[in-house]
Amino acid sequence: MMKPQEGAVSLRPRRLRSTNAMRSLVAETSLEARQLMAPLFVREGLEAPRPIDSLPGVVQHSLSSLPGALQEVIDSGVKSVMLFAVPEVRDALGSMASHPEGIISRAVSVAAETAGSELVIGADVCLDEFTSHGHCGVLTSDGDVDNDQTVLAYQEMSVALAKAGADLLGLSGMMDGQVGAVRHALDDSGFKGVSILAYAAKYASNFYGPFRDAVESPLEGNRKKYQMDWRNRREALREISLDIEQGADIVMVKPAVSYLDVIRDASQIVDVPLAAYIVSGEYSMIELAAKHGLLDREATIWETLFAVRRAGADIICTYWAVEFATKLSTGGFPLD
Ligand code: PBG
Repeated sequence: MMKPQEGAVSLRPRRLRSTNAMRSLVAETSLEARQLMAPLFVREGLEAPRPIDSLPGVVQHSLSSLPGALQEVIDSGVKSVMLFAVPEVRDALGSMASHPEGIISRAVSVAAETAGSELVIGADVCLDEFTSHGHCGVLTSDGDVDNDQTVLAYQEMSVALAKAGADLLGLSGMMDGQVGAVRHALDDSGFKGVSILAYAAKYASNFYGPFRDAVESPLEGNRKKYQMDWRNRREALREISLDIEQGADIVMVKPAVSYLDVIRDASQIVDVPLAAYIVSGEYSMIELAAKHGLLDREATIWETLFAVRRAGADIICTYWAVEFATKLSTGGFPLD
């Protein structure tokens, strides 16, 4: 029998795994509270926060509970929120999306007034929460989403939310040309300083299921005619490049956990910050599995957050933001 070569035997990657200190010294990825973004839901007509059954631990806030929630975000070390609103009344055009007294504008005003100096106030720009059919835009007579009419509505909504005090607009509708059109509308209305986070590569994902409950979505069918086909990877780079050309300040890949390859590809081509959204289904799968004793909850969440960072995301939008930022701010990532 051949003797193992001296050199080969001494190549032992396990040396660098021998102690907590050694593992920390050589860890390739890190995570800080400031890199997490907290999505928050605000429901019109509520007196008190209401739990969302399909998203354990997440609530719909009332306008009056929002300031307290924002204070928790600030205390945790998270620097940004993304506001989603649930209106009492919907119509075919989603008119309440850009109404100054609509719930999203009011939520943004409350947030800007109470936390605007300490947090980046982000707001979702999309019609799906406001339309009676649940689609992300207005419909043509044959029931398709009308791209260009919808983009006009996004311009109006964006200006309304900028007026209400938003710092960052999350363009999540996947209409062609939406980023450039919104950039122009903001600039023309005196909001040159309001930033755009483009949901550039947003897939028509089944993992949005619990979110649709959270916003009480009436949607029947799917969004495959505007959100991306999950068989595609290269196409994400095209979407991302188009959004950057049109002036996106931050681009996002969504969902995150099932799309780590897309995050990796994107991180290699972008010259703007890259965000990824761990969506409702990805969140609830882990929460429910942990509740059933199948997974160690905390350890699995750390692994998930680090996986998204390892893939290349700079910013992670996640329902775990406040809880895990607090852990990071008060002791850091547990070593054992
Ligand atoms: C659309 C929007 C959706 C999500 C964020 N923005 C739902 C959709 O496209 O159907 C999903 C987020 C999640 O699942 O956590 N405004």
